[in-house]
Amino acid sequence: MDMVNHRLSGLLATGVWLLTGCTQPNSGTTGVAPESPNQTTTGSNTGTAIAIGIGVAQTSNVALLGQEQVAGAKLAEKYFNDQGGINGTPIRLVFQDTAGDEQGAINAFQTLITKDKVVGIVGPTLSQQAFSADPIADRAKVPVLGPSNTAKGIPQIGEFVARVSAPVAVVAPNSVKAALKLDPKIKKVAVFFAQNDAFSKSETEIFQQTVKDQGLEVVTVQKFQTTDTDFQTQVTTALNLKPDLVIISGLAADGGNLVRQLRELGYKGTIIGGNGLNTSNIFSVCKALCDGILIAQAYSPEHPGTINKAFRDAYFEQYKKEPPQFSAQAFAGVQVFVEALKTVDQKAKVAQKPLGDLRISLNQQVLAGNYNTPLGEISFTPEGEIVQKEFYVAQIKMEPDGKNGKFTFLK
Ligand code: ALA
Repeated sequence: MDMVNHRLSGLLATGVWLLTGCTQPNSGTTGVAPESPNQTTTGSNTGTAIAIGIGVAQTSNVALLGQEQVAGAKLAEKYFNDQGGINGTPIRLVFQDTAGDEQGAINAFQTLITKDKVVGIVGPTLSQQAFSADPIADRAKVPVLGPSNTAKGIPQIGEFVARVSAPVAVVAPNSVKAALKLDPKIKKVAVFFAQNDAFSKSETEIFQQTVKDQGLEVVTVQKFQTTDTDFQTQVTTALNLKPDLVIISGLAADGGNLVRQLRELGYKGTIIGGNGLNTSNIFSVCKALCDGILIAQAYSPEHPGTINKAFRDAYFEQYKKEPPQFSAQAFAGVQVFVEALKTVDQKAKVAQKPLGDLRISLNQQVLAGNYNTPLGEISFTPEGEIVQKEFYVAQIKMEPDGKNGKFTFLK
């Protein structure tokens, strides 16, 4: 367990959510020389690095997701610099912590745009944050790639906003279909969602529609807050209605606690977790009771191809486990910027372009390209929506000790 992970679990165990002083990822670890952030162009043809911003949650409970994004982005930085960066010019990731709320994301984006002078931003972690922070980047004409923002309406925020994270409408139905395949007798469904979170509200709409489309009955819809830790009232109300499937749209800490309390209060049926629960960081929250949760995936470590193999091997070497979806998507976000920058650079050296012009050219090229990423081949609609082909469903398998577990991909 790495240091951030360890601190997160400790805090989760004690029920304290606010993290301070977490280890900041150090962009100097790849050996790329830091540069002055005050320049107005991104570098020079003498090899100064091109700055790409990473604005994700490194603190707060949202770091349960954000720390996986930091890991994926850092692996991409090393991988692409080892491959020669932007036609010989290295990239340099600049990390700004968004923490878990809107203001944190706004502050991080503003710093990346005006102080760090990045060419583009991979971030933020939550859709809830994206709806506040992305318009700032859009107005400043700075391209944003959402690495995990899956709510409806993200690419529509503006011309400079695209995402590498497939939307809820594409991903979520897969888990309901998988649950029915595993247990065709499912009829009654209890739905839970976090009403203070834009993604959770968007995802639950898709889940509820899918349930109806599959001829199942929604017996109750229970609401909670992402800051909640006690779900007894909602769980008791739902269990009185004897559901045989529970579907949760929330984030990792609240979602993990809700799963735990469902099981503790006697629920034995199938549980589907949405995209906000898609991290092994929930293992420290629901422990052995995480066993069996079904979660749809926009990434599989088994995906064939050279780039995924390189990413998977590098991740495995560092973390001794298979890479998670949030890391793969962050890697893909950095990759899209790198490959688009390479194309822009072939037409006119990026290191010599004024920053404002470069950001505009980069945005155009991001949308024009095709990318062979660990997520598979991806491209974008003119609006910035990801076009992705392959999706999966995984089931959590916990060891009886409740400490270790893994995501097993269903066939
Ligand atoms: N997929 C989640 C969101 O969009 C993390 O907020």
